[in-house]
Amino acid sequence: MSNETQWPDSWKTLSHGIRSGRYTDPAFAKLEYEKLWSRVWQTAARLDEIPNKGDYTTYEIGDQSVIVVRVDADTIKVYHNVCPHRATALSPGGTGHFHNCKIICPFHGWRWNLSGRNEYVLERGEFKDGKLLDSDVALREVHHVIYAGFVFINFDRNPISFDEFIAPVRELIDGLAIGEMHHYWWKAIPIASNWKVAQEAFFEGYHVPATHPQLEPDAAEIIFNGEPTAETEESFAHNNVITDAFPNGHGRFYAGKKTPMAGHTKLGGDPVDAMAARLNLLVEGMDAMVLKEDVEIVRSLKGKPIPEGSSLGGEYVKALYTTAAMQKRPMPKPVPEVLGMWGGEIFVFPNLMILPHAGNAMIYRVRPDATNPDHCVFEIFSTKTYPAAVTPPRAEMQLVTDEMDPTQVLPIPRQDLGNIPRMQRGLHSKGCKQIWLASEQEKMILNMHQEMDRYLDAPKVTSGAASV
Ligand code: FES
Ligand SMILES: [Fe+2]
Repeated sequence: MSNETQWPDSWKTLSHGIRSGRYTDPAFAKLEYEKLWSRVWQTAARLDEIPNKGDYTTYEIGDQSVIVVRVDADTIKVYHNVCPHRATALSPGGTGHFHNCKIICPFHGWRWNLSGRNEYVLERGEFKDGKLLDSDVALREVHHVIYAGFVFINFDRNPISFDEFIAPVRELIDGLAIGEMHHYWWKAIPIASNWKVAQEAFFEGYHVPATHPQLEPDAAEIIFNGEPTAETEESFAHNNVITDAFPNGHGRFYAGKKTPMAGHTKLGGDPVDAMAARLNLLVEGMDAMVLKEDVEIVRSLKGKPIPEGSSLGGEYVKALYTTAAMQKRPMPKPVPEVLGMWGGEIFVFPNLMILPHAGNAMIYRVRPDATNPDHCVFEIFSTKTYPAAVTPPRAEMQLVTDEMDPTQVLPIPRQDLGNIPRMQRGLHSKGCKQIWLASEQEKMILNMHQEMDRYLDAPKVTSGAASV
């Protein structure tokens, strides 16, 4: 489907918005499977899911399933999750360990080593007139690349170069030491929305005052109870965010106009208490990015003088790095480009978001439902670097059964998740033909759709067709 007449109006990416059919039409979701998920580099696992030889984890996307296997300390293999005999899935799903480091099919007991070589076929002479080749019964591999603690896979037989794919964000990710971060917790949340609706709710800071009023109380007060003016809007904290759209659909936003700590001290009272209270909102709200040990470090500054030329934020960073050095805990380089990303986000096309802070990162991954464009699974990985003396735990996923249950989902993501199914319902409304996007703060959304259109072979938009 590559010409204009076969590309419905409801599937168009516009210059200032997105047509609603891209989020609701089952035919569009099918096209995404055919042309995007089948060819794009995507994260199948964190290495923390398979720390020991013989460990496996299962990755599912649409009707495809792969197993990611730890062969030895330096080797990972990714196989299609299927027995070459009669197609039984070799992993039932989730994470596990292959007993004795042998992969054995539960149906007739064919067996492979971790490298995918067949070691046993019961009554082998019965097959192919006794001429069954090892290559006939080897496990089928999927292309993979290990990068920054992720296992990226690509189903294409001749995938595009991973290096070229990741190049626009590689330096940023490398600087943040994402590869040295390990599992703290990981939750999967089924959501009644299209995967793109869910992830685009995390693509900007523009939603913060209305959705998370506790994080921007001044702006929220003006939005809900006051008379916003251009002048007050200028002072809103989320306005300090700079958004970049990169090639290959990637992007980022960051607090480019201020240091990440600026603004945290403007609350009244003792500045250390105010900063600790501010960061604690993130600990209690998300238990990710900022963790309780970080707040303890802020509190340890209480009563200490701030040297001439420094600031509370600067002293916090110093104390954080001193503590990490004592614990031999790996940290990102404390250079301005890295510190400036704290509290920001890197988006790796098509569905991975990395939100770094100090030696921690919150990571989101969103996957579409296999058949229903109104459903997806939203995953949150809370990761951090660990002191040298601590062995990070194996990553195990917890499935959330109700995204509005406060015992399962903390307040900040719950605020976001409250909006998402409402957007999906709205996109089905006869009153909604398209959504509108802010040209700066929501540009990562547009950039992502434009890259998707390249994968989907969408007709090139002419300037007339693109305007709304
Ligand atoms: S289906 Fe796997 S051994 Fe028969
Ligand atoms: Fe949010």
